Amino acid sequence: MQTIKLNNGVEMPILGYGVFLVDPKECERCVTDAIDVGYRMIDTAQAYYNEEGVGAAIKKSGIKRDEFFLVTKVWITNSGEEKAAKSIEESLKKLQTDYVDLLLIHQPFGDYYGTYRAMEKAYKDGKTRAIGVRNFFPDRFVDLCNFVEIKPMVNQMETHVFQQEKTLREYMDKYNTQLMSWSPMARGENNFFNNEVLKSIGDKYNKTAAQVALRFLTQENVIVIPKSTHKERMKENFEIFDFELSKDDMATLRSLDKGESLFINHYDPEFVQSIINY
Ligand SMILES: NC(=O)c1ccc[n+]([C@@H]2O[C@H](COP(=O)([O-])OP(=O)(O)OC[C@H]3O[C@@H](n4cnc5c(N)ncnc54)[C@H](OP(=O)(O)O)[C@@H]3O)[C@@H](O)[C@H]2O)c1
Repeated sequence: MQTIKLNNGVEMPILGYGVFLVDPKECERCVTDAIDVGYRMIDTAQAYYNEEGVGAAIKKSGIKRDEFFLVTKVWITNSGEEKAAKSIEESLKKLQTDYVDLLLIHQPFGDYYGTYRAMEKAYKDGKTRAIGVRNFFPDRFVDLCNFVEIKPMVNQMETHVFQQEKTLREYMDKYNTQLMSWSPMARGENNFFNNEVLKSIGDKYNKTAAQVALRFLTQENVIVIPKSTHKERMKENFEIFDFELSKDDMATLRSLDKGESLFINHYDPEFVQSIINY
């Protein structure tokens, strides 16, 4: 698996499996299928309520822990130094491991500076190999970077062909923070899997729209975590390293960028309230 070196030297797989909206009852089966397909990076979160399923699948796989790259996220209700530290211990227990590979702040709300300090401590104590943030838009990202001891290694953001995060990437480059995409296939919105541009480029390489979209991001050095509960789709999403998009095709795909989210507006007070109540 191709990897990307984070700003602390840790090698992170460029492709992983995400379990957002995977039913806790189905999670162990899904992660077992994903491991069988070849995925070794798994992205979960306290707020997905399926960390136990991820932990069980990894344990039962019989594959050594250090072959996996495990990502989880601290939720808003656990924000603040003390609560976050306690929640990290709970996540480790649920995941049946002594450490995770990457720990993220899930949302830039609540006492996220306190959460970050707890994550810095977990990092120093060897409970996580890297730390970072999620949904930190340029303003909050720059603010955070100016006031923390350890610069975030990763910022996980909605990133797909329609939202390429060009402005944010300029700021992230200054701190050598790696972009990790959530919803790399836009969760199927905008008739994603039937998009004419993605399909016609795919025809040239005998690949699907999903494979073109994922390949595009990895060629742009973006880490991707596609989700599917179907094993054949997990396999399809995994088979993106046996072709390379040409310069012209990359330029065409770059031009699909609309520069805005398909799902969220972190500057909308109603949205912020709904996330806090989640
Ligand atoms: N923290 C957050 O709030 C957050 C938010 C979004 C995403 N994420 C992370 O990013 C991961 C991926 O994002 P996402 O789950 O929102 O969306 P996504 O990976 O962009 O798309 C998933 C959707 O596409 C379908 N699908 C997957 N592969 C397909 C294929 N090859 N052909 C056709 N349909 C396909 C899936 O359906 P089936 O499952 O039925 O196959 C599912 O409906 C998440 O699982 C999570 O780890 C985090």
